[in-house]
Amino acid sequence: MQGDLERVLFDEAAILRRLDQIAAQISADYRDQELTVIAVLNGSLMFMADLLRRIPLPLKLDCLGVASYHGRTESTGEVILKQVAPDVKDRHILILDDILDSGNSLAAVREKLEMAQPLSVRVCVLLEKKKSRARPVKADYVGFQIADEFVVGYGLDYMEQYRNLPCIGVLRKDLIAS
Ligand code: IMP
Ligand code: MG
Repeated sequence: MQGDLERVLFDEAAILRRLDQIAAQISADYRDQELTVIAVLNGSLMFMADLLRRIPLPLKLDCLGVASYHGRTESTGEVILKQVAPDVKDRHILILDDILDSGNSLAAVREKLEMAQPLSVRVCVLLEKKKSRARPVKADYVGFQIADEFVVGYGLDYMEQYRNLPCIGVLRKDLIAS
């Protein structure tokens, strides 16, 4: 699997070091609040597991499945929520996602949750691509900013592969279907 990478951007140790920092920041920000974390599946699975174990606060956890990619590396703009949004009324919501790319999926999730009258909504992403977005979404917590390249590993997939790579790297261009 590692051989399918053009280069490694962040190894496991670098990811976990950064998670220590973000977790400390989130723990301080939500110290006296009723926090509900909503993780967007499947890409945020590893990120969610490692981040939440570093946050020593009482919190609720819900997961939300969305589909926006269909074996492509570009967003189609169409986002489907795979189930009814969890109950977020009167809760402080922190949305976790793997990557902020076009912004389509996070904008759709955020919009859906805001309709259910939460007290607040913030967004935390592991990766943020430096590019102009189809929909304006601001992430409150960002693990790493990256260039506009297609990356895999640590939860991120290409056609459902590579999620179990422990590092994050740029996928070789010759492996991406044109
Ligand atoms: P959006 O384009 O911001 O809506 O991102 C939607 C989803 O596409 C993300 O949550 C990822 O699952 C996936 N995605 C976007 N960019 C990449 C990438 O570089 N590698 C793997 N998945 C990606
Ligand atoms: Mg994907």
